[in-house]
Amino acid sequence: MPSNECNLFCFHLILLLFLHCSSSFISHALDSETDRLSLLSFKDELTDDPLDVMSSWNDSVRFCEWRGITCSSRRARVTMLSLPFQKLGGTLSPAIANLTFLRAIDLRGNVFRGPIPAEIGRLFRLRSLLLMENSFGGEIPANLSQCTQLEIINLNFNSLIGKIPTELSRLPNLVALHISANQLTGGIPPVLGNISTLLNLSIAQNYLGGTIPDNLGQLVNLQFLQVGSNNLSGTVPLSVFNLSRISIFGVAFNRLVGSLPSSIGTSLPNLKQLLIGVNGFSGNIPSSLSNISSLQIIDLPDNQFVGRVPSDFGRIANLQRVNVGRNLLGRGDSDPLDFINSLINCSKFEMLGIDNNHFSGPLPDKIANLSTNVNRLLLGGNQIPSTIGNLTKLFELRLDGNTLDTNIPSSLANCQQLQLLNLSDNDLSGPVPIQIFTLSSLTVTFNLARNFLSGTLPLDVGNFVNLKELDLSDNELSGSIPHSLGRCLSLEHVYLQCNSLNGSIPSSLSSLKGLQDLDLSRNNLTGSTYLSFCKIFFLQYLNLSYNQFQGQVPKNGAFANRSAVSLVGNGDLCGGSIELELSPCSVPTDPVGRNKSYLKVVITAVSGVFGSAGMLYIAISCILKRSRARSSLAFPSSDWNSNFSYRELEKATSGFSSDNLVGTGSFALVYKGLQSQDRRPIAVKVLKIQEKGTSKIYMAECEALSNIRHRNLVKVLGCCSDVDSAGRDFKAIVLDFMPNGSLEQWLHPEERNVNAVNDLNIFQRLSIAIDVASALEYLHYYCHIPIAHCDVKPGNVLLDDDLCAHLSDFGLAKFLRNRVMYVDKLKAVQLEYEDQLDMLLQV
Ligand SMILES: *[C@@H]1O[C@H](CO)[C@@H](O)[C@H](O)[C@H]1NC(C)=O
Ligand SMILES: *[C@@H]1O[C@H](CO)[C@@H](O)[C@H](O)[C@H]1NC(C)=O
Ligand SMILES: *[C@@H]1O[C@H](CO)[C@@H](O)[C@H](O)[C@H]1NC(C)=O
Ligand SMILES: *[C@@H]1O[C@H](CO)[C@@H](O)[C@H](O)[C@H]1NC(C)=O
Ligand SMILES: *[C@@H]1O[C@H](CO)[C@@H](O)[C@H](O)[C@H]1NC(C)=O
Ligand SMILES: *[C@@H]1O[C@H](CO)[C@@H](O)[C@H](O)[C@H]1NC(C)=O
Ligand SMILES: *[C@@H]1O[C@H](CO)[C@@H](O)[C@H](O)[C@H]1NC(C)=O
Ligand SMILES: *[C@@H]1O[C@H](CO)[C@@H](O)[C@H](O)[C@H]1NC(C)=O
Ligand SMILES: *[C@@H]1O[C@H](CO)[C@@H](O)[C@H](O)[C@H]1NC(C)=O
Ligand SMILES: *[C@@H]1O[C@H](CO)[C@@H](O)[C@H](O)[C@H]1NC(C)=O
Ligand SMILES: *[C@@H]1O[C@H](CO)[C@@H](O)[C@H](O)[C@H]1NC(C)=O
Ligand SMILES: *[C@@H]1O[C@H](CO)[C@@H](O)[C@H](O)[C@H]1NC(C)=O
Repeated sequence: MPSNECNLFCFHLILLLFLHCSSSFISHALDSETDRLSLLSFKDELTDDPLDVMSSWNDSVRFCEWRGITCSSRRARVTMLSLPFQKLGGTLSPAIANLTFLRAIDLRGNVFRGPIPAEIGRLFRLRSLLLMENSFGGEIPANLSQCTQLEIINLNFNSLIGKIPTELSRLPNLVALHISANQLTGGIPPVLGNISTLLNLSIAQNYLGGTIPDNLGQLVNLQFLQVGSNNLSGTVPLSVFNLSRISIFGVAFNRLVGSLPSSIGTSLPNLKQLLIGVNGFSGNIPSSLSNISSLQIIDLPDNQFVGRVPSDFGRIANLQRVNVGRNLLGRGDSDPLDFINSLINCSKFEMLGIDNNHFSGPLPDKIANLSTNVNRLLLGGNQIPSTIGNLTKLFELRLDGNTLDTNIPSSLANCQQLQLLNLSDNDLSGPVPIQIFTLSSLTVTFNLARNFLSGTLPLDVGNFVNLKELDLSDNELSGSIPHSLGRCLSLEHVYLQCNSLNGSIPSSLSSLKGLQDLDLSRNNLTGSTYLSFCKIFFLQYLNLSYNQFQGQVPKNGAFANRSAVSLVGNGDLCGGSIELELSPCSVPTDPVGRNKSYLKVVITAVSGVFGSAGMLYIAISCILKRSRARSSLAFPSSDWNSNFSYRELEKATSGFSSDNLVGTGSFALVYKGLQSQDRRPIAVKVLKIQEKGTSKIYMAECEALSNIRHRNLVKVLGCCSDVDSAGRDFKAIVLDFMPNGSLEQWLHPEERNVNAVNDLNIFQRLSIAIDVASALEYLHYYCHIPIAHCDVKPGNVLLDDDLCAHLSDFGLAKFLRNRVMYVDKLKAVQLEYEDQLDMLLQV
């Protein structure tokens, strides 16, 4: 080729290449710009970003480098938007539909609300859409069916309504459809059976009615079927029991009926979990289940199964749980429990539930040889005398309602992880072995009610520091109620009625601030009923009847509520509220009504201040006049500030210098400081975050304080929840500074390392008592929701310049909301069904 032509040709070639490249360059640049704008629209729709994730989405770097963005390397188009668990709130902008190269969206675990934009249907390259654990509402957009590449849809745990769109059946590549835990209605569309690629189908915890369609039997690849906790009825189609790849078969909590096919062992050879509890299934438990070597969980409580439990479950090496409780099994069988013998071969075995059936006869000795992994044994409601072995990992043992007629074996104390022990309603006798009282692991209940147990309640009962319920009622226990019971600070329900206990109610019970039910009726208890008033507020049920209590009955708290308290059958009680219909006490009656008893208790509590009991009556009459006059003086709420930052407080206290440290407690350090704007003195109470329970205290205190204003309460200027300079959590409460310290320091000056010779005179003391009483009166009667401070003591009474007293420290305060009884019942039900709930969560 001649060189000119070559040059010309080359020139054209270069020109063409250049033009081509530049035009494609320009068009790429435009496409990229669309992506950038779409992302900015996405950002614009966000309203919450507490972790400040989106600050990286700025123009200092290309959008491909923004947090959560992945681009294709060649064209710089967005292929992935991934911001899971970032606490992002707001709506999802439809503009993401312009990110046409998107293959994956992962926004799970945020707080998105509003609809899932139907425009997502335009993302024809999308393969994976993960929006679970948000608050998306509205319907599932049918337009999703246009994303023909979609393989995974996960919308679990949102608030989606409406029906499951039938259009989803057109997704030719769908592998996983997870739409559990929403509010979907209608039924399961039969056309879902057309998605032959489907491996996972999870639509549990919705309001779906109707039946399980036969068409689902066409999903020959299905491995995971979870339709539990809906309102499905009818039988499970045989075709569905025929899906040979199924590993998890979850249909629990519906209204399904029919029996399990006897061939289930051959038709579901890959089954791991059979979850069919709380339905109306009937018939026998097929013995072919023992042929499924992959089985781990057989869970079929609350059905109508009859007959025997197959005796060779022990062949299933991986078996972990068998729960057949609350069925009709075992009736008329001579050896109905021999299946337990076979289970000893299952080395991973954890849980056996056979309660509330018709099992009878001796519990096989081999129960002691079950795997040491066993942690729950539910045997109640049958007729089986028992020996329990060395199941040291047991955390729940229910043997209630059997006919156990031995002593309680002390070896039970080896079960050091036991949280729940229920041996009630048996024929157990003898003393409760003292070793049992070493089980500080008990948290839920220790229930030995309705047996024939004798002996005394040992001091060691104080080991139950985390226990909620103690029920030893209807036995033959004698001796007194040990003082150490006051150490069991978690107790909410204590039932000791119908024994032969004597002595008085230990004053330590007043430490049990969470106590709701206390039944001591039908014992031989003596002494006064006058318990600490703070505690009494939480009692909803107090039964002291048929004892030998004497003296004055309080008028407050539980005693004020006729329906909550029972006192009959005590010879010598007087006073109390009118509804109790007791005779008046012989001391002069109170002319002023309820306020007096409050104030009297307060005065009694600080009577050390007065030193003289004779002052009491003078004090009371003074207080009654003055507290009325003062109690309505409230602070304006305008200077409440929840936004103190760590920096401000650091500055105010000169970097939390030890010179400014004015107090230390087990939960907090208190610093003096000066507010930067107005040089006003403040007290900064810094919580020791690392101490257990501190954040609960902070919440209680902030909640209480943001709701109350009174001149005799320490004025709170704000709370601070921030991170310190090292990035650790920092929580503090900012209060008005009280220059005269606490009443404690005045009463016991030796403890404050001060050579103060100041002593409070009687008028100052009286005034302080009045101030405290006014504060309490306000908290109990005039707050929107009554508040119990629960920690009134001189150390928490602070004095200002004028020695006016201010109550502080609301860390243990409780709102006396109307507690709802059925919550406890729900809790009990939940405990029963914990297993099934666990399983439903695998959606
Ligand atoms: C912009 O983003 C970069 C990281 O992408 C970040 O380092 C920088 O701090 C951000 N700028 C602003 C003003 O937030
Ligand atoms: C998508 O981009 C086009 C033009 O680039 C624009 O007109 C449209 O509003 C965008 N769509 C959304 C939903 O933002
Ligand atoms: C949903 O799909 C239909 C049919 O293709 C279309 O007409 C409509 O515009 C789409 N809706 C949205 C919001 O993209
Ligand atoms: C489901 O598939 C069957 C064939 O297997 C077809 O006849 C039917 O139209 C499909 N249904 C839908 C709604 O696509
Ligand atoms: C399908 O379900 C199984 C069992 O829960 C799970 O391990 C797997 O990740 C799921 N697959 C998809 C694609 O969601
Ligand atoms: C369950 O379905 C039945 C009809 O099969 C209906 O009567 C009932 O109201 C439904 N229950 C709920 C809670 O939706
Ligand atoms: C179950 O599967 C077997 C063999 O795969 C087949 O013969 C039978 O017809 C199926 N039954 C149903 C109800 O689908
Ligand atoms: C278990 O499988 C064996 C063969 O593997 C078979 O002979 C036996 O009948 C099966 N048992 C049941 C109860 O189906
Ligand atoms: C338990 O395993 C042993 C040894 O593998 C075997 O001999 C015995 O038959 C098995 N017992 C049961 C009940 O399966
Ligand atoms: C139970 O434990 C004791 C010792 O703690 C041991 O002697 C006994 O053999 C164990 N019993 C069984 C059945 O494992
Ligand atoms: C049960 O455990 C005891 C003590 O460990 C042992 O002697 C006995 O052989 C075991 N029984 C069986 C059937 O494994
Ligand atoms: C109560 O004590 C009296 C004597 O103090 C005694 O006679 C009576 O049997 C005791 N009652 C009970 C139930 O223990």
